[in-house]
Amino acid sequence: MLYNTAQVFAPATVANVGPGFDIFGFAMHEPGDEVVATLSPDSGVRITSITGDGGALPLDSVKNTAAVAVTGLLARIEAKNGITLEIHKKMPLGSGLGSSAASAVAAVVAVNELLGRPLERHELLPFTMEGERIACGAAHADNVAPSLLGGFILIRSYAPLDIVKIPTPEGLTATVVHPHIEVRTEDARRILRRTIPLSSAITQCGNVAGLIAGLLTKNYGLIGRSLTDCIVEPQRTLLIPGFENVKHAALGAGALGCSISGSGPSIFALSSSLETGTAVGRAMRDAFTSVELVSDVFVSPVNKEGPKIIAMG
Ligand code: HSE
Repeated sequence: MLYNTAQVFAPATVANVGPGFDIFGFAMHEPGDEVVATLSPDSGVRITSITGDGGALPLDSVKNTAAVAVTGLLARIEAKNGITLEIHKKMPLGSGLGSSAASAVAAVVAVNELLGRPLERHELLPFTMEGERIACGAAHADNVAPSLLGGFILIRSYAPLDIVKIPTPEGLTATVVHPHIEVRTEDARRILRRTIPLSSAITQCGNVAGLIAGLLTKNYGLIGRSLTDCIVEPQRTLLIPGFENVKHAALGAGALGCSISGSGPSIFALSSSLETGTAVGRAMRDAFTSVELVSDVFVSPVNKEGPKIIAMG
């Protein structure tokens, strides 16, 4: 059956997940972005509207992450058609929740469906990574890969690209608290030192391996002990007022561990149940309130499915 339009939801993601800078990420159930893609007789990609961004995002298709990703896909499959995109932002920008990633993923999945699925889901990943390059200057995959594929993702290697989905325990619940300030990923990357001491590399490798082992063996104690980032978190906390208080509140309310979500300012915690994750969210929000920051709380088990096709028409 041939369709003219496809509407797709792609989920928010938590990147880095403690020690895994640029190599770990997982998908949430909510929030997420929606994109409506429509076949067009004109060649190329055109954005007809963006809602929910307060006018902040570019309509220009060489500057917009979703349009850049779709342009790459159309070129790869030598499509005859052009595409128009409507982008509905349903999560905050510059939040550390993978907003640019969700739009790019929703867009390429929608277009791939419209064109009769010429590529497998995982083959869409490089196009969404080019969207990230436009958004922040680096084609990091730790938001786009989990948004596209669902679940908890390890990027074992960038060159060549080697993506591994890691099973997670059923009860594992993420709490993400977004304070109403904006941190641009590009800025949060620019402040990072380019070299690290050997001792830090050893500590970080231990935690990376420990987190994966903890997830695979459903060992919540090991997950908690491993959710420690001794390299990037200490350099970025200055961008997030109240970070230490919020982390302290999360751990006090029973979280296994807590760190910055992506490049911030959102902070995430992992818990062993939805009930604890909900209580952790209340404690984290109260801690942000005590430094006079209003925040939103999202509580979600790991989203193992990824994007959802909402409608084809
Ligand atoms: N790994 C990226 C960073 C994620 O921390 O810069 C951005 O969401």
